[in-house]
Amino acid sequence: MQDLPVLILQSLVSAKEQDSPGLAKKFKVDEQKIVGAIKSVEALGDVVNTQIYQVKSWKLTGEGEEVVQSGSHEARLFNLVPAGDGGIEQAKLMGLCGKWGKIGFSKAMSAGWIIIDKSQGSPVVKRKVGEITDNLKQDLQKIKENQSELVDEKLKVDYKKRKLVEEVNEKHYKITPGANFTTSITKAPTELTPEMLSSGAWKTTSLKPYNLEALGVETGGGCLHPLLKVRTEYRQIFLEMGFSEMPANNFVESSFWNFDALFQPQQHPARDAHDTFFISDPATSDKFPADYMERVKKVHSEGGFGSQGYNYNWKIEEASKNLLRTHTTAVSARMLYRTAQAPKFVPQKLFSIDRVFRNETLDATHLAEFHQIEGVVADYNITLGHCIGVINTFFTKLGIQKLRFKPAYNPYTEPSMEIFSYHEGLQKWVEIGNSGMFRPEMLLPMGLPDGVNVIGFGLSLERPTMIKYKIDNIRDLVGHKVNLDMVKKNPLCRIDKSGTGEERRLEVVSKRWARIESRLQCLQKHIQAMGLSTTGSVSYGAAEEKLKDVVIKVHPDKPLYSLGLLVPALKKRFQLALSTHCHSSVKQPGPLMLNEDSVGRSSADLKVAVIYSNVQRSTLVVGSSEIQGEENILRYFSRLMDGVTAPGLYDTLDDNFIAQVDTLLDRLTDTSKHNISTLIPGILNKNRFLAGNHLTLADVLAYSLCKQNNVTNASIQAWSKKVETSLAN
Ligand code: PHE
Repeated sequence: MQDLPVLILQSLVSAKEQDSPGLAKKFKVDEQKIVGAIKSVEALGDVVNTQIYQVKSWKLTGEGEEVVQSGSHEARLFNLVPAGDGGIEQAKLMGLCGKWGKIGFSKAMSAGWIIIDKSQGSPVVKRKVGEITDNLKQDLQKIKENQSELVDEKLKVDYKKRKLVEEVNEKHYKITPGANFTTSITKAPTELTPEMLSSGAWKTTSLKPYNLEALGVETGGGCLHPLLKVRTEYRQIFLEMGFSEMPANNFVESSFWNFDALFQPQQHPARDAHDTFFISDPATSDKFPADYMERVKKVHSEGGFGSQGYNYNWKIEEASKNLLRTHTTAVSARMLYRTAQAPKFVPQKLFSIDRVFRNETLDATHLAEFHQIEGVVADYNITLGHCIGVINTFFTKLGIQKLRFKPAYNPYTEPSMEIFSYHEGLQKWVEIGNSGMFRPEMLLPMGLPDGVNVIGFGLSLERPTMIKYKIDNIRDLVGHKVNLDMVKKNPLCRIDKSGTGEERRLEVVSKRWARIESRLQCLQKHIQAMGLSTTGSVSYGAAEEKLKDVVIKVHPDKPLYSLGLLVPALKKRFQLALSTHCHSSVKQPGPLMLNEDSVGRSSADLKVAVIYSNVQRSTLVVGSSEIQGEENILRYFSRLMDGVTAPGLYDTLDDNFIAQVDTLLDRLTDTSKHNISTLIPGILNKNRFLAGNHLTLADVLAYSLCKQNNVTNASIQAWSKKVETSLAN
């Protein structure tokens, strides 16, 4: 089609008004094309005026089209009934129809075209009229030809119900010549040019207006995967420490460099296909430095360099097997060999952070491939002390200071040490790496001078990344199930290098202590407000009377099982009067009714009234003050008991321990039911009680929360029993 916009403009010269359906017919193109052309003319400015209008129209559905093709269902059914008296058995007739048979039958019946004759037993269908006209087909035909106005409105609604037609709203355009009407379109320039400026043409040129409604193009920038972000940080630390990066881009390695060069005997279980991925094509490679290979062979089979070796028949066939490297120590071996070939030994500090492969059983924290971070230092006279020192510096830069080293075994290092760090979150020591001093059986055959020692260490990149980005399933971090949004939206990796372990812990303790102190001060103020005497710290002297007549408001869903637990201990210290009531604001009291009046209220020196009422948090009212929250009510009672239980549930503990109990109390208070059921067994896993080996308020609160939330399982039950019996005695 030649320039449609121009044709449209020309058509306006004589007609003055056009609409898109008319233009589509006139130029024999799809109306959508006309609309596109109108829009491009519209963009020229006031060349045309456009107006959108809507037209309701009827369209055939698929089934409607079928009727136009083959006739209405009722007519098709009628035509299948033979003329004359014989008719056709109903069952047979239905068998001849498609799925339209049923509706055709009922419509033909109600139109009075057919009858059923049951006089012969099985029903027979006969024609009732000689001839029919298929009005439905004719009506639909008209609708198809855009003559729906010829069809009765009521019938159209009826056809719509039968899903033969549907009503559609169509948008069309009406155009008339605009203020700047023209039939010749000149493309308006989109930009000012230097030529326009110098010639002055800019004064008369009409520029294409900006479309301020246009949406910008989204700029999908690249982004680093979390593993790579963390890798960048680790690389930075190595660089700060003066290490250079090793070329670690060869995933496929020979057994020689991966194992033999490292003095790992050929029958070592790690060299089994169960642990290592071997390569089938090419299966082998044997371009090892010949003299070096001979020395490796000798040290394995016969010994040498002061070692007795492994005393077995070393085979080049085993050494040539290709594999996916199982550790980056293969790279370190190549680099150390290269270092040994230099005419004069130069000390080395090397690192790599790259991928390794192991035939692992896959689970939430293991994949068959992962990244290793590896550091190696070679120099004269370095010792295990240097090894620990370098590792210590490295981790200090990461903000990790509590390190422990545990003797371990590696075929290529002696001594070897596993590296553990104290995980502040998990409150336990976790293994984070492996290290050691490379054996002379590995270094001397390479040609490194006698007296040069090499230390090395390795750790995984995935573990710190998962901790940093709080990812607990490795499959959410690596592999085909990774959510790309996670990659795009994860923040930069900034390793918190400020405040190291101990300092941070002290900071936490002092913050908590400040909070406890402010709580105490608050209580003290209340006591003063009650006109009671206090000295420096909280004293119960004269205040005792009033302080020991308390009301506790409790929601029926959150009964104070904790208070029930404390009753035996309270009774050791006080003449206790305890009663439970129900306020009119609640329909039913809670399931726990605490009553203890062996002494009678008048002679009691601790009076506690529990009232089930409509409160959000349990609230203890003493005089004119209120203490909110079960955890704080427990603190209050523990203070009253004043060391009745040994070694004390809370107040009499040392500051550090109290801080720990405080942390637990806060954690428990903030925890949902679901989390309680995992949190508590998690802590109990390694402890007798929540804060260690001693029963504390944390246990009392947790006990209560478990009961309130119906959290029961074997470990919780066993611990609950322990809590109960410890407090009963
Ligand atoms: N290669 C060891 C591993 O895979 C790590 C290590 C490197 C140990 C260097 C000692 C020396 O765990």
